[in-house]
Amino acid sequence: MKITSTSVLALGAFAATAAASPVLLSSRWSYGKISGLDYSILNLARNLESVELNYWNQGLANFTEADFDSAGYTGFYTYLKLFRDQEIAHFTVLNDALGGGFTNCTYKFPVTTPQELLTVAQVVTTVGEGAFIGGIANLTDSPSRQSGGAILGNEARQNSLLRQFLGLDFFNAVNLDTPLTASQAYSLAAPFIHDCPSSNAPIEFHLIPAITADFTTGAPPHNAGDEITVNWDAEKVKLGDDVHIQFLGDVYSIKAPLTQTGTGVGTTKLPEGINGTSILVATNFGGKGPIPDGQNFGIGSVVVA
Ligand SMILES: *[C@@H]1O[C@H](CO)[C@@H](O)[C@H](O)[C@H]1NC(C)=O
Ligand SMILES: *[C@@H]1O[C@H](CO)[C@@H](O)[C@H](O)[C@H]1NC(C)=O
Ligand SMILES: *[C@@H]1O[C@H](CO)[C@@H](O)[C@H](O)[C@H]1NC(C)=O
Ligand SMILES: *[C@@H]1O[C@H](CO)[C@@H](O)[C@H](O)[C@H]1NC(C)=O
Repeated sequence: MKITSTSVLALGAFAATAAASPVLLSSRWSYGKISGLDYSILNLARNLESVELNYWNQGLANFTEADFDSAGYTGFYTYLKLFRDQEIAHFTVLNDALGGGFTNCTYKFPVTTPQELLTVAQVVTTVGEGAFIGGIANLTDSPSRQSGGAILGNEARQNSLLRQFLGLDFFNAVNLDTPLTASQAYSLAAPFIHDCPSSNAPIEFHLIPAITADFTTGAPPHNAGDEITVNWDAEKVKLGDDVHIQFLGDVYSIKAPLTQTGTGVGTTKLPEGINGTSILVATNFGGKGPIPDGQNFGIGSVVVA
């Protein structure tokens, strides 16, 4: 992907603004003093922002304003450019905090139409936001937490705008947005990330295999009881009889039985209380709180409303 003159200009403009009005009040924030788990979490966040930045840049390269207008998304092109500029800002804040040293990976997305661009972006921004909510809980560095909060608010507004263009519920989860563990967020974004240069700091979290999930009854907004077909790669993932689906949505983690109907395929039903874009985990974890890394056997998402 070539660097456009507008993105270089926008980057320059942001850097000037940041220097003129600092909001991050710690010497630790300045260049490369973040360490340990804080570094690992911010490095994941930086990678997620890079996914998003490259996503919007590819969208700008692939589609014209007329493409969005004729696909029924009149006015979206203006936001596409805005979102790209916002991701430059998010990426830059995190990359500066970590002392730079990041080169783009190769990014691939399952997008060939304007509708797919908005549909995938809606899930990507849900994951990005959930990653920050989960990450903030584990950051010890106060300016890092503040920056995470500043980014996730912006990310949530992008998500709502995308949802509105797609005719989905503006608010995503009804009352409270859903935290993800670092491994869950990384794994949901991993299918888009290819060939990272070895000079980049590695992402140090657990990679959970992907599952795909699609409603086979109803239409958004879905009701409790609607059926979902779940697919996984049976070569990589063997799910025992004790495995169920845990639906993450709002601050809920709700269990639903998985009926395995064939090799790498099964069905489950949407439980009551799950709304917006829900993350599904195949697991045998039955406790409260975040699912421990080793008990996430597969992860995917489904759009409920
Ligand atoms: C990564 O690629 C995007 C173009 O998609 C560009 O805007 C950005 O500056 C690149 N970042 C780095 C660190 O090279
Ligand atoms: C842009 O188009 C390329 C080539 O068709 C495709 O591989 C890529 O996934 C598209 N990306 C986006 C975000 O539209
Ligand atoms: C973050 O904290 C939660 C508990 O709030 C814990 O379950 C999780 O494993 C932690 N993640 C990391 C990466 O340390
Ligand atoms: C989603 O939220 C709406 C509004 O609170 C509620 O009426 C609906 O029952 C919820 N859906 C499910 C599947 O719980």
